[in-house]
Amino acid sequence: MNPLRSLILAAAGSEVVRHLVATTPGTSGVVERFVAGNTIADAVTRVARLVDDGLWVTLDHLGEDVTETGQAERTVQTYLALLDRLYAEGLAARVEVGVKLSALGLRLDERLALDNAYRVCAAAEQCGTTVTLDMEDHTTTDATLRVLAELRRTWPWVGGVLQAYLRRTEDDVRALAVADSRIRLCKGAYAEPEEVAFTRAHEVDLGYVRCANSLLAGDGYPMFATHDPRLIAILAERARWYGRKQGSYEYQMLYGVRPDEQRRLAGEGETVRVYVPFGEHWYPYLMRRLAERPANLMFFLRALVSR
Ligand code: FDA
Repeated sequence: MNPLRSLILAAAGSEVVRHLVATTPGTSGVVERFVAGNTIADAVTRVARLVDDGLWVTLDHLGEDVTETGQAERTVQTYLALLDRLYAEGLAARVEVGVKLSALGLRLDERLALDNAYRVCAAAEQCGTTVTLDMEDHTTTDATLRVLAELRRTWPWVGGVLQAYLRRTEDDVRALAVADSRIRLCKGAYAEPEEVAFTRAHEVDLGYVRCANSLLAGDGYPMFATHDPRLIAILAERARWYGRKQGSYEYQMLYGVRPDEQRRLAGEGETVRVYVPFGEHWYPYLMRRLAERPANLMFFLRALVSR
């Protein structure tokens, strides 16, 4: 992995750097580009604009790695309030929620995270929307897939995420490319050791295309999460090759990243979903975005220096 990327991802876990970034004047402008505000009201306002533009949305309340059950309970309550609000605003048909199991207590107790995820999924069903479980670092992959399998027994529409950089993912894709299965394929955003993950960008891209082929050949609903123009061109060609009609798969991109491309694809009739994070705990999320792209880091540094 590129040393700058490793350094930024290491800083994502540092309390000292978090404090420094959070208290530096100028940070908020950068945060706003990638994060849709601190509150449910902020997020719903931004999301309504995306929906007006013909986009679909996954709304994610930022927060991960809770260390006590009370925090996990607060996460559940936030999701229940969020779902109520989406329903009340008439947005639930186009806006689903994304959940990190670590925010629901996965590192404390897998059963607790499963029970909490059940409550979020039940509320989502009542509101007429869906849930996708984000994928975190490789130490959580097995547990996340177990929880996903359990939830899918009641709600086959619960979505999962597979990361092309993990060596195991081609096998996971084959197991999950089944009817009604909603699988987001992304490259992977965490600093992973070479034993479990491809570390060269080219290998990750090749892995992504192999997994995309399996998903398109299967009976599920692939959700291709990438901003990579080369991959997007390949995915379009592969979808045609497999006879996939528009609407039988979707593209996904992050809030604030390549917004023109999001609208271009939607204008061509593709289903495009924007992943929109909101909430006060934006720091690790922002650091992962900065690590992905030196230009993002330069944008961040320029915003700080120009204050
Ligand atoms: P990459 O970062 O390799 O960039 C490839 C090319 O894309 C660049 O060369 C450039 O051309 C273009 N590009 C990228 N960023 C750009 C920018 N800011 N502006 C302009 N062009 C840009 N990860 C994870 O581990 N678990 C998860 O659950 C998720 N979930 C998720 C949902 C969604 C909707 C997305 C889009 C991504 C995720 N990710 C994720 C993150 C994902 O794993 C990955 O880290 C990022 O998407 C970056 O990878 P890219 O595929 O975009 O390519």
